[in-house]
Amino acid sequence: MSKQKETLLTMRNISKGFAGVQALKDVQLTLRKGEVHALMGENGAGKSTLMKCMIGVHEADEGEIVYKGKTVKFASVLEAQHAGISMIFQELNLIPHLTVAENIFFAREPMKMGMVDKAKMIKESEKLLSLFDIDVSPTDEVRTLPVAKQQMVEIAKALSFDVEILIMDEPTSALTEKEIDKLFELVDKLRERGVSIVYISHRMEELKRICDHITIFRDGTYVSDHVFSEISMDEIITKMVGRSLDNHFPPKTATIEDKVILSVMNAERYGVFEPLNFDLRKGEILGITGLVGAKRTELARSIFGADPLDGGDIYVHDHKVSIKDPSDAIKAGIAYLSEDRKLNGVAVRMTIRENITMASMDKVSNGAGVISYDKEKKAANTFIDKMEIKTPTIEQLVNNLSGGNQQKVVIGKWLFRDATVMIFDEPTRGIDVGAKYAIYQLLDELAASGVGVIMISSELPEILGVSDRVIVMREGRMTGMLETKATNQEEIMHYATGVKDMFTHEYGEA
Ligand SMILES: Nc1ncnc2c1ncn2[C@@H]1O[C@H](COP(=O)(O)OP(=O)(O)OP(=O)(O)O)[C@@H](O)[C@H]1O
Ligand SMILES: [Mg+2]
Repeated sequence: MSKQKETLLTMRNISKGFAGVQALKDVQLTLRKGEVHALMGENGAGKSTLMKCMIGVHEADEGEIVYKGKTVKFASVLEAQHAGISMIFQELNLIPHLTVAENIFFAREPMKMGMVDKAKMIKESEKLLSLFDIDVSPTDEVRTLPVAKQQMVEIAKALSFDVEILIMDEPTSALTEKEIDKLFELVDKLRERGVSIVYISHRMEELKRICDHITIFRDGTYVSDHVFSEISMDEIITKMVGRSLDNHFPPKTATIEDKVILSVMNAERYGVFEPLNFDLRKGEILGITGLVGAKRTELARSIFGADPLDGGDIYVHDHKVSIKDPSDAIKAGIAYLSEDRKLNGVAVRMTIRENITMASMDKVSNGAGVISYDKEKKAANTFIDKMEIKTPTIEQLVNNLSGGNQQKVVIGKWLFRDATVMIFDEPTRGIDVGAKYAIYQLLDELAASGVGVIMISSELPEILGVSDRVIVMREGRMTGMLETKATNQEEIMHYATGVKDMFTHEYGEA
């Protein structure tokens, strides 16, 4: 890393405005050959926009891009791809009703006698998929694949061109740990081959593992760039946020009372999770953690009625509730913010105002059922402030918000709904450090106001910093229930990996 690498691409004095938003102001980026280069900045800082200017999605209003010694301006993504620059977009970009092979070769299908050579397309796709160890069939329709696999298909597609620069915009937000490891192996291989990678992520741990260089942005401006090993995490955060964040977690204001809000008794799903019991008390934030395959999300979905429980009872404020589907759960006061918000949480073609109020029309209507614009406006503004959503107006289409800000809109929508119990599944995924703090504060406020809060999270520092007690799950079993004050990451990992199990006496089983 010490050796000066050859410059492959520079972006100079780039500015880009949209109606009402100056997304980039006089920004620069220098990319060297064979490096992994992190872009960091808060949600809405302009990272995705800068990359879209590089690859011809947007045309910059000002500035210059020099690639391999020549000034370039790509008119389309395809043009950039043919020049060796590919991007994996934050919001997946595949065409759902086409197959994997059709997606990979979209708009450049191999031809034979004037027809698409399907056999060749499938064969080539197979080669590519197996090269990267991606377990999907070229003939699968993309919409039938889980998000993680779609993500891998995007990656295969990007690599099907001869890439010299590969841009990955939040590539791991939908991946499991195992898939992330695979992706990183791939990144290493590409780097060895001299490919430059632009890596956008809010996950510091990932950046530490793979990045050589970092450029930091704030509010559409360039702040600085560094050799990654020469800057500390705290310095990065200070530069990103413009102030230092001494505490990553807000102080807790809610006090825990004896009153039980939610009781889950002997809840089970055959073949998915074993019978488990827990109570959630007033003022408490209950964490649920575990490794991939622990079945945390499955548990949440069952409490919410999205999947059926095969046995067990659920009590809300001491009343037994019967939950057959999500509408029963909502009536019983249970809300669930799912982890794949990109897919089903947000209506991207609607405005922020509409998204925030759409699940709570009763709260913005008058007695006669007529919707009050003023009430909608007030609600939207409240959550834009609370969640620090970066937007010029409440009428902005959600589609035009940055990825992280889209997620905040979904959280706002559920907060506005006023539930008795709220289950948050990975609420801070894709969200920048500053905004994470705001979300933690909100969870605390909710708990203080008497809402039962459950937070599913894979990030142990977050679990320890935010929740009062934590349930640890492993392969469909609850293996631990710990007071977070009296535990640590290591102990939680013991329960998550099966070294310890509180509810059997056999320690050390595999
Ligand atoms: N098509 C568009 N129309 C209007 N505004 C846009 C458009 N695309 C981006 N913006 C705005 O430009 C700013 C920069 O957005 P960008 O998506 O580049 O942020 P980001 O750094 O990638 O954030 P995140 O970490 O949340 O993904 C934001 O204020 C965003 O709302
Ligand atoms: Mg982005």
